Amino acid sequence: MSLIDKIRAKAAANIKKIVLPEGDDDRTLRAAEILVNEKLADPVVLGDPAQINEKAKALGVNVNFAVIDPATSPDTARYADLLFELRKAKGLTKEAADKLALDPMYHGILMVKAGDADGLVSGAVHTTGDMLRPALQIIKTKPGMKLVSSSFLMDCPDKSLGEDGLLVYADCVVVPNPNSEELANIAVAAAETARVLCDIKEPRVAMLSFSTKGSADHELVTKVREAVEIAHAIAPELMLDGEMQFDAAIVPEIGASKAKGSPVAGRANVLIFPDLQAGNIGYKITQRIGKASCFAVLQGLAAPCNDLSRGCSVEDIVNTVAMTAVQCLSI
Ligand code: ACO
Repeated sequence: MSLIDKIRAKAAANIKKIVLPEGDDDRTLRAAEILVNEKLADPVVLGDPAQINEKAKALGVNVNFAVIDPATSPDTARYADLLFELRKAKGLTKEAADKLALDPMYHGILMVKAGDADGLVSGAVHTTGDMLRPALQIIKTKPGMKLVSSSFLMDCPDKSLGEDGLLVYADCVVVPNPNSEELANIAVAAAETARVLCDIKEPRVAMLSFSTKGSADHELVTKVREAVEIAHAIAPELMLDGEMQFDAAIVPEIGASKAKGSPVAGRANVLIFPDLQAGNIGYKITQRIGKASCFAVLQGLAAPCNDLSRGCSVEDIVNTVAMTAVQCLSI
């Protein structure tokens, strides 16, 4: 069974209520219908019911899912109060909170915060920043996590790599230039994502660099080395090592020669990139040249919210909702 089939099966066994704020997007409506038909989740689509019904009719979509209109919902006032309480110390006025609660993105995030939904998937229309900012401001990090970041689950055709072809890459979406402490947090969160979503019982985390075990000296390498020490202190039980080059992390012979005795080198299944440029470029190379299927999730939030690419397909939305539902199980 492929990674995504396993995730879909888990989602189907634990139906979760997931908000889709982008009811004005055709793909979102098609995905919501599929989620109900395939019993993968209980989607709640936000938008004007008249417009959604009209669009659905034109698309041939059966509106078999819940639709909530922030403009008429009896819960909007409650969400506005909640938002005001959460953000007044940051200078948010009541008037601004009333207005934001009508915005589908904020409304959806507030539904999750209030416990009226389990998770949220957005980004078919909105940018990553549009989706991330309210999630960071309102949902916040889960206990024990200092930072929200992301992991890409890479399902590679070469099954000798990582964990039967599975590799988890982090961070490829959120934190542009993590310091050593943030990098350590990203590593610990990615190991947790590997356990929860990939069923990897023993995450083996490699902290990547252009140096392996002191082969080069530079402040960029020092950052990674410090992150290794901090990660060991935060999660002493975690199998984590570095700094190491990409080949030393995933090729057994190179790992054995460049990082002799390392419990991770040559057989890493979780790869931590030193910054967002490296991570984002790295996952795209693996996807385009390595022909891996890839699935992105946010990690570290107190309730799962996930971002889509604006070029996403209907299937991408369905898969991301399934991953979000599975993440709910570990909250
Ligand atoms: N974890 C936890 N909280 C955070 C984080 C984080 N990583 N980043 C910001 N915050 C908090 C801040 O502390 C702040 O909280 P507060 O308002 O309660 O004090 C709040 O979030 C907003 O912070 P800002 O500094 O105003 O937000 P910022 O402008 O830094 O934006 C963002 C944060 C959106 C995550 C930014 O770092 C960003 O744009 N990252 C890159 C996103 C991106 O474009 N990714 C690449 C493309 S995606 C792809 O390829 C699939």
